[in-house]
Amino acid sequence: MSKRSHSSSRWLQRQASDLYVQRAHKEGFRSRAVYKLEEIEQRHQLFRPGMRIVDLGSAPGSWSQWAQKRLDGQAQIIALDVLPMDGLPEVTFIQGDFTDPAILQALETALAGKAVDLVMSDMAPNISGLKAVDQPRAMLLAELAYETALEWLKPGGHFLCKVFQGEGFDEYLRVLRPHFNKVVTRKPQASRPQSREVYILGYSRKKTS
Ligand SMILES: C[S@@+](CC[C@H](N)C(=O)[O-])C[C@H]1O[C@@H](n2cnc3c(N)ncnc32)[C@H](O)[C@@H]1O
Repeated sequence: MSKRSHSSSRWLQRQASDLYVQRAHKEGFRSRAVYKLEEIEQRHQLFRPGMRIVDLGSAPGSWSQWAQKRLDGQAQIIALDVLPMDGLPEVTFIQGDFTDPAILQALETALAGKAVDLVMSDMAPNISGLKAVDQPRAMLLAELAYETALEWLKPGGHFLCKVFQGEGFDEYLRVLRPHFNKVVTRKPQASRPQSREVYILGYSRKKTS
């Protein structure tokens, strides 16, 4: 068996035995990632009806799906991913690479000048296994998400972003802190322990930022 097919069969085995995968399947969610968002919400209460939400790195769609259910359809969600995503009610989907200025422009057009209550990003680059390659790619996505948040978030709005611990992480936190009333780092139970991913929450954007 080649190295690649060996690791993909390991991935399949792990998926099959993963309790979060089984639960997502049972509860009708598209991905186990939903339980990361749910845990963060249980702790911080970010969602309320009538919100405008941007969901970056949205595919296959469990975060948008969960937000849409949680708010009983009373939300405007704009989701974006480089991969295709099956449609969801009340969710506008933009397919494209977020590092492409034309795709950022498409997001801005969809927002039509209206400020946003929550920017959430679960974007993660394809992992090559080479830290020196993967970490800058991941940080670039987190930085672009942060720029979008600062451009579009209302005062009091929240920013939730997946970031990988490593080079650039401390600096990212340092730059974020002055703009929010609280900045915390969370590692939800559903986030695999061996992954360096954590979620940074910028809670309640300051009025003056
Ligand atoms: C962990 S998955 C997101 C799961 C999603 N939150 C859910 O609940 O279904 C990460 C996503 O980031 C997307 N992504 C990675 N790089 C991207 C980019 N440059 N532009 C847009 N999406 C990107 C991937 O295609 C992938 O679907």
